[in-house]
Amino acid sequence: MKNVVITGANSGVGLQAARIFARNKDRLFLLCRPGEKSERALGYIIQESGNKNIELIGVDLAEVDSIQAAMEMIIEKTDSIDVLINNAGLQKKQFTTDSGGVELSLAVNSRAPYLLANGLLGLLRGSKSPRIINVVSDLYKKGKFPVQAYANAKEYSAGKAYADSKLATVLMSQEMARRYQDDNVTVLSLHPGMLATGALRDYPQLMIKLINMFLENQSLAAIESSSLQHQRNLLIRAVPMYIKMRYGILTKRLGVQMLS
Ligand SMILES: NC(=O)c1ccc[n+]([C@@H]2O[C@H](COP(=O)([O-])OP(=O)(O)OC[C@H]3O[C@@H](n4cnc5c(N)ncnc54)[C@H](OP(=O)(O)O)[C@@H]3O)[C@@H](O)[C@H]2O)c1
Repeated sequence: MKNVVITGANSGVGLQAARIFARNKDRLFLLCRPGEKSERALGYIIQESGNKNIELIGVDLAEVDSIQAAMEMIIEKTDSIDVLINNAGLQKKQFTTDSGGVELSLAVNSRAPYLLANGLLGLLRGSKSPRIINVVSDLYKKGKFPVQAYANAKEYSAGKAYADSKLATVLMSQEMARRYQDDNVTVLSLHPGMLATGALRDYPQLMIKLINMFLENQSLAAIESSSLQHQRNLLIRAVPMYIKMRYGILTKRLGVQMLS
């Protein structure tokens, strides 16, 4: 059994990862925004897997204080973490900031993984074979570093901010891998492939529907309303991602890219 922390596990990639870790009887801490969507996802994962060793930790990953509070809760509950999966991510159509003025995609896609990795390092050191998986995107290739510090809506480009934030996370993963080598902590970036996503939720609905029409819908609502066979198929397709997340191995050929 592994102790696994997953952010953004109430839909999409995070939900698929949580389903499959849950089936493997690992102990899960799901770091999600508090609310009905997350409660429903938790209920679904527990009911489907029969694994009751799963807890929801409410967090707003855009806010430093909230991340700090979530980490304190985890530290109270366990002595070690085997796998930290920084999956939560977003692309904001409009220029948006956290309460301290930091642009939101940078805050959630890059800063939150940084804070969680550093804040939970003590627990990761408690594992025999700890790993940190940062879920990024192939679009990191379009990013620039140092990232542009957007100060207002006029300068802002949603696509660029997203790509910059993912590039920053890829570079951060590489640097963490180097720094944590002596602690035996493996740090990887993972591009999950192209799937229907809620990460573009504040774009026009029609546009999202058109994009998502050609991609696998992984929202909880879509999974719950699909046949048992389809639900199983989704799990089977998530296996390469799971192997990568759990063991840090594998392979572009199976649709999951290893970036560092
Ligand atoms: N789908 C793809 O094709 C694709 C391709 C490349 C990379 N990715 C990456 O894969 C990851 C997962 O994306 P997805 O497609 O599975 O999208 P998704 O279904 O929208 O999942 C994103 C998750 O992030 C959470 N999140 C966003 N902001 C948060 C915040 N401030 N605090 C707490 N949780 C927050 C969301 O929670 P709420 O619903 O509560 O907001 C949701 O659980 C992202 O990092 C994305 O960039 C996806």
